[in-house]
Amino acid sequence: MKEIRIESKLSVYDNSNELPNHIASLMENAKEARLKAYAPYSKFLVGAALLLDNGEIITGSNQENASYPSGLCAERTAIYYAGAQYPDAKIVSMAITAGAQNNINTTPIPPCGACRQTIAEYEVKQEFPIEIYFMGTSGKIVKSHSLANLLPLGFDRSFL
Ligand code: THU
Repeated sequence: MKEIRIESKLSVYDNSNELPNHIASLMENAKEARLKAYAPYSKFLVGAALLLDNGEIITGSNQENASYPSGLCAERTAIYYAGAQYPDAKIVSMAITAGAQNNINTTPIPPCGACRQTIAEYEVKQEFPIEIYFMGTSGKIVKSHSLANLLPLGFDRSFL
């Protein structure tokens, strides 16, 4: 028997002034998208913005449903739109902001497991890392240099 250690490396930025300009701007897109969330049940609003290698910016917000499981997270709303609209473009960066309605949340909120699995599919497909920046509604921003770094031991097409 031997033990295997798996490590993830994250960068933590104190505020958006520390971010590269284009990422600060992408996070602003995510914040605008968050305000368009349709979340009457959870009242928890999430916004996501993607930067594609063709320069396009795609945004998404969570879209809920009276039949709860039919709703979709912000990250998947955005990435499925990007995949449908620009199937040949690579996703370079993703910015995510999340927090309860009418509340300030300074804790960085990472994408849920289902969203990580979804983003992983596109990262594998495009053979290029997707950098992920996530935050609450204000305060620190956390960066992962790739989705794989957030999803160790991921399941992908290589197992099929
Ligand atoms: N949500 C997201 O949009 N992204 C995540 O990564 C986690 C959760 C949404 C789903 C639901 O509308 C609300 O937040 C509460 O779970």
